[in-house]
Amino acid sequence: MTSRPPAHLPFSTLIRDATKAQHTRAEGSTFMSDMLSGRLGVEAFTRYTEQLWFVYRALEEAAVRLDGDPVAGPFLRRELFRLPSLERDLDHLHGSGAWRGTLTPLAATESYAERIAQVASDWPGGYVAHHYTRYLGDLSGGQVVRGTAEKNWGFAHKGDGVRFYVFEDIPNPAAFKRGYRELLDSVPADDEEKWRIAGECGRAFSLNTAVFEELAAPAPAGG
Ligand code: HEM
Repeated sequence: MTSRPPAHLPFSTLIRDATKAQHTRAEGSTFMSDMLSGRLGVEAFTRYTEQLWFVYRALEEAAVRLDGDPVAGPFLRRELFRLPSLERDLDHLHGSGAWRGTLTPLAATESYAERIAQVASDWPGGYVAHHYTRYLGDLSGGQVVRGTAEKNWGFAHKGDGVRFYVFEDIPNPAAFKRGYRELLDSVPADDEEKWRIAGECGRAFSLNTAVFEELAAPAPAGG
């Protein structure tokens, strides 16, 4: 559950504080810990990357439609787009193009992508919540995941396999994050709407955690 934060905080602080406990849970999830500790092999990293492809396809297909929207539009920065990098990583992990048409979303991933598509079509503020939860996370903790993946499985530094985590067109992530937080702080929304968006950030975290749980679950027998 997202706890209700004090209304006087800047919106960027408000949503970070509201999702803090969920962040800790996501970070410490069994799948993340097992993958990053090296207990799981590169195939777990590959399965995770495959699921991210469905999430970013939903986020970035919607971005085209929301371009120019007064609430979501300012967040849609081309330099954040991850789908081309994810596709290069999948080419590397599977052999060029071999994965196309063969990937299957987990049930949790399907629900996650459906929620993104839903808010993108009827609630731009909700879309901002999903945008924030993924892209600001990728610019932050994503860098920890990249470093560990390079070490665990021998990917070239910032190279094929981990390009998803490399924002080539964002030379200064700290400055970019500051600018992103300023955008959040000036989002045209009243307090009630800000609270709803904070709640949707909580939902976005839960949807991510559900994907981790399904990734951690043993594969069905006979599959
Ligand atoms: C092993 C996994 C993870 C690690 C090590 C990690 C680590 C971090 C760190 C160190 C920051 C702070 C960066 C800063 O202060 O600028 C951060 C921020 C963030 N992370 Fe994570 N994280 C992980 C997983 C996740 C996941 C699964 C999500 C959600 C999908 C997520 C979403 C975020 C968001 C939205 C922020 C920005 C918070 C803000 O400043 O508003 N993280 N993460």
